[in-house]
Amino acid sequence: MAASWLIRLIFLAVNVLSANLLVISNSDFCASVFETKNDHVLVGHVMNTSAVADEFECHQKCLRNNSCKSFNVHPGTDNTKRVCELNNKTRQTTQDKFKKKKGSSYYGHVKATCQDLLTNKRKQTGHRHPDYRGKKFELPKKRGWNSKDPAYSCKSIRDSGDSKGDGRYWIDPENSGNPLKVYCDMTTDGGGWLLVSNITMESSTPPSQLPIKTSYRGITSDQMVLTKTAMTVLRTHLSFTQLRFHCSKNNGRKFHVTTVANSTGEAAVQYFSGQTDVQPASCGSYVRMENDNSGSAGVCQKWGLESGSFEVAKWGAGFDQERLYDHPAFARDLYHWALNHPDYSGGQAKRWECDDYLVGVNTGDFWKIYVR
Ligand SMILES: *[C@@H]1O[C@H](CO)[C@@H](O)[C@H](O)[C@H]1NC(C)=O
Ligand SMILES: *[C@@H]1O[C@H](CO)[C@@H](O)[C@H](O)[C@H]1NC(C)=O
Ligand SMILES: *[C@@H]1O[C@H](CO)[C@@H](O)[C@H](O)[C@H]1NC(C)=O
Ligand SMILES: *[C@@H]1O[C@H](CO)[C@@H](O)[C@H](O)[C@H]1NC(C)=O
Ligand SMILES: *[C@@H]1O[C@H](CO)[C@@H](O)[C@H](O)[C@H]1NC(C)=O
Repeated sequence: MAASWLIRLIFLAVNVLSANLLVISNSDFCASVFETKNDHVLVGHVMNTSAVADEFECHQKCLRNNSCKSFNVHPGTDNTKRVCELNNKTRQTTQDKFKKKKGSSYYGHVKATCQDLLTNKRKQTGHRHPDYRGKKFELPKKRGWNSKDPAYSCKSIRDSGDSKGDGRYWIDPENSGNPLKVYCDMTTDGGGWLLVSNITMESSTPPSQLPIKTSYRGITSDQMVLTKTAMTVLRTHLSFTQLRFHCSKNNGRKFHVTTVANSTGEAAVQYFSGQTDVQPASCGSYVRMENDNSGSAGVCQKWGLESGSFEVAKWGAGFDQERLYDHPAFARDLYHWALNHPDYSGGQAKRWECDDYLVGVNTGDFWKIYVR
């Protein structure tokens, strides 16, 4: 993972006022400048010690931590490893702790403006790390933080350590150059969840229509439910393996379950993604999240409606395009997840149930579905 951006780095050594400076730059080529002092170390301000392959890996760690002001690299006991120490001060802020140490090196942030660098350009020595010769020189990008650097998925942002918590991120699962700004839940159950349906009551008078999206790109909306077709296309681009259903009502009802990442859970993912119309088994396909207090989750054997029979221990009610949001999980006359109901004509939203049955809605009630 680290290697992918590392290859893009070129380290440029610049001579400024007789100190060797290592310049790390972004696209406008002047951002953060490090000086290098061989056979020196800063002691007493180490906040983190780790083994690294080389000084560049240590440099990366320092760049990624806002508290890191400088770092020491020592030879390791193992020839292929070095010891990386991140310091929360520079030698300029604590001169007395700067010591000679043969074989080790100190790299410290120094203040430099773009103008400083330009005026010293003639003194540039042009040294580069031999591994990175000829490559374009860039700061490691945080994937997903802006439209120019979209990530593949919420999960890939989590996995690469580029998460900044719950919120909006840019993803481009099709790698099409036409990214989407989506909502990622980065905290629940380890994070990495992409929100694909969101219905939230902003008043106790529900809207008459559901915001049904027939394209998965509709997930950029604030309020949406996805059709089977939208889910099918999404799954051809995004290799998610789990679904998470989370609804909550003001009356205290909370249904919050995640499909299991095994073949029983996969059958449910395939059904809701329209890869099959075979209704999947409910029991053994999901786990309850910590705050689930639902009746539904405790009675998996009572779920479902298939070919006119209720309580078939299956997900769904046999609906087609509406399967994801309309009665995905319900026990007859007891505990329903329902949005809309085809018995009512005109696609008008008449059911707003979350682990309840024919109960009204209140401000703050929500139905959210995620994939990961
Ligand atoms: C810097 O790190 C040292 C050593 O871990 C610690 O005692 C000190 O509180 C830290 N100072 C700041 C400003 O974070
Ligand atoms: C040092 O940083 C690494 C990540 O680079 C982290 O996993 C580890 O917990 C940190 N150690 C301490 C003592 O903070
Ligand atoms: C920086 O690293 C220190 C030591 O590993 C850690 O305690 C701190 O949380 C990190 N800060 C950030 C912003 O990552
Ligand atoms: C869900 O919908 C509500 C109401 O429009 C909105 O405030 C919220 O930002 C949306 N997204 C999430 C992640 O809750
Ligand atoms: C999948 O996991 C669930 C929960 O751990 C378990 O009940 C079920 O039997 C598993 N299915 C398979 C095929 O292993």
